[in-house]
Amino acid sequence: MNKAAFAPSDAKPFVRSLRGVVHERPCFWLMRQAGRYLPEYRATRAQANGFVDLCLRPDLACEITLQPLRRYAMDAAILFSDILMVPYGLGQKLEFKEGEGPVLDAVRDGAAIAKLEKSGGEFDARVAPIYETVRRVAANLPGKTALIGFAGAPWTVATYMVEGCGSKDFANVRLLAYRDRIAFQALIDLLVRATIGYLKRQISAGAEAVQLFDTWAGVLPEGEYAQWVIDPVRRIVAALAADHPEIPVIFFPKGSGTLYETAAEIPGVAALGIDTAVPLAYARRLQAKVAVQGNLDPIVLAAGGEALDRAAGRILDTLGAGPFVFNLGHGVIPPTPPENVARLADLIRNWRAPR
Ligand code: CP3
Repeated sequence: MNKAAFAPSDAKPFVRSLRGVVHERPCFWLMRQAGRYLPEYRATRAQANGFVDLCLRPDLACEITLQPLRRYAMDAAILFSDILMVPYGLGQKLEFKEGEGPVLDAVRDGAAIAKLEKSGGEFDARVAPIYETVRRVAANLPGKTALIGFAGAPWTVATYMVEGCGSKDFANVRLLAYRDRIAFQALIDLLVRATIGYLKRQISAGAEAVQLFDTWAGVLPEGEYAQWVIDPVRRIVAALAADHPEIPVIFFPKGSGTLYETAAEIPGVAALGIDTAVPLAYARRLQAKVAVQGNLDPIVLAAGGEALDRAAGRILDTLGAGPFVFNLGHGVIPPTPPENVARLADLIRNWRAPR
């Protein structure tokens, strides 16, 4: 893909960096930059009737999206929502229980999947408030800040839909995929279609880049990885590129290990999000194919001090001279002191590539 053709000089710095343009200092944003570590997030969240309601309230979701930018002026904002709003849009019952995480009405067989295919017709009506949030954020962003839309990748979303909650071994979803490949493929296909429509609507509403979160990509053996991680994402990226070739896609297949190389081959993926375990020398080789985004340990951000400076410095020195966006290897954790994020932001802003 000709990346330069899609990096016009009037595009925002973040969008250009996803297209391979190297700036004097790298762009940055942080996964979960809007979240429980910020007191203003906790205050806004308290105004909603639970987390799903929060995601469906454009006034509150827009406010939360903008909160971290006021403190740290990241180069990109990410829509405040959740990957599980796609199952919600498909008609699956979803709740976030305090201290427990998400709880869904598990789909475990072909009949349950067929039912979702029927109720999925209401998708856009159910998630319409999220598109409204995108419009509001786009209208209120500081001039050079880009807006990232997002969705979960089909495999990771399917794990929650089939398990009905978070999981450690993913036994139910993997059993379904092995025992009834046809039914599971139907679920993945439903998610591919829904995700394409969902992201296209976010782009029309003002998203300037999109990220696909595949948090549980790393639990699959190579053959299953090709089928449930790579193939669905390839189809989504191709469909988006057909309508919106100017919108870069960031793919974050967390835990992929040496299979990151396969992810880098997906046509049209502009950038790969890498987790904390990816060696920097390996990441630097990936930069020959794609822009790389990552991969500071969220725990070292919570720890702060010189450990933070050293870890961030190594990442910047190794990856900063190539196509790169600074981020964490996973989301900001709630006990992170907000001043540590300020320290990191200063460090990135003051860094310059060694000459
Ligand atoms: O990054 C951002 O700031 C944008 C908003 C965002 C959230 N979730 C907000 C959120 C994004 C992009 C996500 C993605 C998401 N959601 C993923 C993929 C990335 C990852 O973290 O692995 C996954 C797997 C989910 C599903 C999910 N949402 C779980 C398992 C949980 C419970 C665990 C937890 O961290 O609380 C959530 C809740 C959630 N999503 C919160 C936030 C701010 C915390 C909710 C609260 O305030 O109680």
